[in-house]
Amino acid sequence: MIDLNAAGNGLEGYSLLCAQLEALLADERDFVANAAQFSALLYSEVPDLNWAGFYLNREQTLVLGPFQGKVACVRIPFGKGVCGAAAASLQTQRIEDVHAFPGHIACDSASNSELVVPLVKEGELWGVLDLDSPLTGRFSEADQRGIEALVAIFMRLTERF
Ligand code: SME
Repeated sequence: MIDLNAAGNGLEGYSLLCAQLEALLADERDFVANAAQFSALLYSEVPDLNWAGFYLNREQTLVLGPFQGKVACVRIPFGKGVCGAAAASLQTQRIEDVHAFPGHIACDSASNSELVVPLVKEGELWGVLDLDSPLTGRFSEADQRGIEALVAIFMRLTERF
């Protein structure tokens, strides 16, 4: 596992992870294959996660996609919970304490903080990437920038499902 915060703001660690993701996705454009690989890379390399995966935009409902972690809620309406808020606002949601977030959907009671990044290409929402942690306040601004950089690589190297 990489120490993402080893050098100051953590971006050095994420630079290595970005290079790993580029290499992993270099020869493949299939959405399911790349999303599965990306969630496995995140789950194995980012410390203190209990869930990492995708919810896909299926006609304005988020439907569970490739992920790593315990079984999860299958359908999330836009606007509901942290994932639904990211989908409705098209803004990353970085939540220090999910129990203080109105409408949070507790798929796994072990989750205490959450980072959700919308997947947007040419103005179209493909879905969201959701990371959950058992630690309160797990995700810093540097983590957000690092994960957003990884999502940008994934979106560049992957075709719409
Ligand atoms: N907690 C999320 C639901 C998805 S699970 O954490 C995998 C939410 O409130 O959107």
